[in-house]
Amino acid sequence: MPESKEIVAALEKIKSEYAAAAKAAKSSAELGDWKAKYLGKKGELSSVMSSMGALGAEDKKVVGRIANEIKSAVEALYEEQLEAVHSSEYLARLGVVGDVTLPSVGVPRGRTHPLYDTLEEISSIFISLGFSVADGPEIEDDYHNFAALNFPDAHPAKEMQDTFYVSSVGDKEMLLRTHTSPVQIRAMKSGKPPFKFIAPGRVYRHEAIDAAHSYVFHQVEGFCVDNKTNLADLKTVLEMFIEKYFGKRLPIRFRPSYFPFTEPSVEVDVECLVCSGAGCKACKNSGYIELLGAGMIHPNVLSNCGLDPNIWQGYAFGIGVERFAMQKYGVDDMRLFYKNEMRFLGQF
Ligand code: PHE
Repeated sequence: MPESKEIVAALEKIKSEYAAAAKAAKSSAELGDWKAKYLGKKGELSSVMSSMGALGAEDKKVVGRIANEIKSAVEALYEEQLEAVHSSEYLARLGVVGDVTLPSVGVPRGRTHPLYDTLEEISSIFISLGFSVADGPEIEDDYHNFAALNFPDAHPAKEMQDTFYVSSVGDKEMLLRTHTSPVQIRAMKSGKPPFKFIAPGRVYRHEAIDAAHSYVFHQVEGFCVDNKTNLADLKTVLEMFIEKYFGKRLPIRFRPSYFPFTEPSVEVDVECLVCSGAGCKACKNSGYIELLGAGMIHPNVLSNCGLDPNIWQGYAFGIGVERFAMQKYGVDDMRLFYKNEMRFLGQF
């Protein structure tokens, strides 16, 4: 006849062993064996519990409570382990190795390139000012890139050091466009004014690479053709653009310049952001930073496109995207934009 002390000792033994045994069961079959051992009819708990029948009422109550506590704990652990074993068996069936519930190590996310962001930002400002987007090929012919834009045949810009010529197509001399201005010609020939267009894109020049030059860079061309536009409209549009882009109103300056396809031609400067016009290293003490080229579309260019210069007039401008990105982000070497160095790109 077992004493209550012996029964309690047997229960204590079960209590000290069941949890570790459950953890050791790695498959549902092993867990089933474990369940039979502790909870089955012929299992350890049942046999201890059935031996309690001979105890006195008082002892039965105390020992019974201990036995029931252990039984509930064993049952709860069974449910828990069953779920764990099932999910690991499921993952194994799927061929998943390792613990998919662990937090990820964090894969770095991609993002757009700062130059592309700048191009998009410039474009979206002009779109908000009523401009539409026009497009042209990067491999152009001599006619659209030069001749129609009023470049005399012997213009120095056409010489080999400035232009990448590629194989001719038929009698057309082909080249990588040196600016986005040929899109002006394409737009004027294919559409009827009045219109306002921007033409963002890549351009190529035969240049040695340094902090301020590259053989491939980006421009946003802008042009408007109608029967009453003038230099004051050009200035207003550029002032509005500069205010939106730099987030504040900045004085701009028109400096006389020369482009074959505009008359008059201007170079547009903006007051230096670094010294507010006082003069500093960034602006070479001039108080202004050169931003872009612009002007009124040359009457010859209008005629070349079949537009009567006595009826139509237009303004045009060409923005260097790299220069704007450098100004905005305080980058002093253009080459950084092309290196694809994660430490540089990660800053934007
Ligand atoms: N195409 C000129 C350049 O690349 C810029 C420009 C565009 C100037 C339109 C005037 C008008 O330098």
